[in-house]
Formats: sequence, structure tokens, C-alpha cells
Amino acid sequence: MRIDIITVVPELLESPFSHSIMKRARDKGLLEVHVHHLRQWAVNEYGQVDDYQYGGGAGMVMMCEPLANAIETLSKDRQYDEVIFMTPDGERFNQSIANQLSLKENLIIICGHYKGIDERIREHFVTREISIGDFVLSGGELAAAIVVDAIGRLLPGVLNDETSALMDSFQDNILAPPVYTRPADFRGWKVPDILLSGDPKKVEDWRYEQSIQRTKIRRPDLLDKH
Ligand code: ADE
Repeated sequence: MRIDIITVVPELLESPFSHSIMKRARDKGLLEVHVHHLRQWAVNEYGQVDDYQYGGGAGMVMMCEPLANAIETLSKDRQYDEVIFMTPDGERFNQSIANQLSLKENLIIICGHYKGIDERIREHFVTREISIGDFVLSGGELAAAIVVDAIGRLLPGVLNDETSALMDSFQDNILAPPVYTRPADFRGWKVPDILLSGDPKKVEDWRYEQSIQRTKIRRPDLLDKH
């Protein structure tokens, strides 16, 4: 899968994909992330990509021309499945959207800044608008990093143990069960006996029961969808 991210702060996107699982995904050639500085499509030699908003009001708006040129330049080389705009007024991101997007081949992600982007880009180029929650970030970059991470780890071959993404919280609309590692007794705090029983069926039933209990207490809203 290939993801092209358009931003005015590419530095913010250097680290998130250069370590740990995202690095492994890229090294294995399973995920390509290309970060593009919007200023290369600026409207003048001062690197201008934003302007005052019509009608007045505080805050600059990202202009049509640089964004349109960026999207059209990238689209010459391949067909994109989605042009995603990160914005607090988009649909709320969740595991189901991550699953859907992980099946795509090529994605563009636009990171908004300032007051946002000219509405005409949203109308004519953007195919999907995503929010990572009901709060406002200073730009879309960190939100884009979260979306790419959530998608990237789902790509086949990225996680070592193929089943581990299946056991994630939310994958079946239930939360993940508690996990433990050695020692079996830490300061008198014991690991549940059943996990030491060596009986895989019992362990599986226990985990499922724990997941259900945890979801009932913490996120009862999810159980309706389970
Ligand atoms: N840009 C600013 N805030 C955002 C949010 N909550 N989700 C996605 N993009 C954003």
C-alpha cells in the first residue's frame, strides 16, 4: 500500500513512520509513505500556500491552487482510491474505518492547517473526511500519523503474529482482555491461575469472558454492535 501525505510541516511526519512496526512495514516494502511539502506547489516565490478568508475573520485558509496542483501531480502517476482530508468535522475514525482503508492500494492524505482548506478542494477533490476525535489539534499531521499507524499495522505481513491484530480491542467491537507476563507472582500479586493451566480452551474462554466483562464496564455502547 502507498500513502502520500500533503503537509506544510513535513518535519512532524518524519519520526512516526521511522521506528518500530511502521519502520518494519516500510522496510519490508509492505507500506510506502511519501510526505510532500505543500510549498513546492506554492503560488509565488515566497512559498505562499494560504491567504485571508473571504468575508473577513481571523485565521488564514489554505488556498485552492497549491492543493489542486499537488493532488493532480500525484494523480498523474497512479489512481488514488481515496483523497482523505484530516479535519475535526470529519467522520470519527475507528477500527472499522482503519480496516476498510487497509484494503486500499493508494491513498492521499491532506493535513489541514490554519483555519482549514478552501471549501472547493473539499467539494471537488476530497473523497473522505476523517476526524480522530472531538478536539481540535493545531494541524492534521498528528491525526494523519495516527490514521497511517492504525492502517499500516493491519497490512498482511506487518505484524509478526498474524493473529495479534485479530485479538485487538475493537476488532469485534469488544475490548481486549488483560494480559500478563513473568513473574507469575510479583509482590504477592498473582497471575490468574487459569493462564498457567496450560489448557488452551480454558484460556480462550477466560479471555473471551474477561473481554465481555471489561467491555460491559468500560464501553457498554460497543456491545450492541458485537
Ligand atoms: N485537525 C485538527 N484537529 C483534528 C482532529 N481532531 N482530527 C483530524 N484532524 C484534525
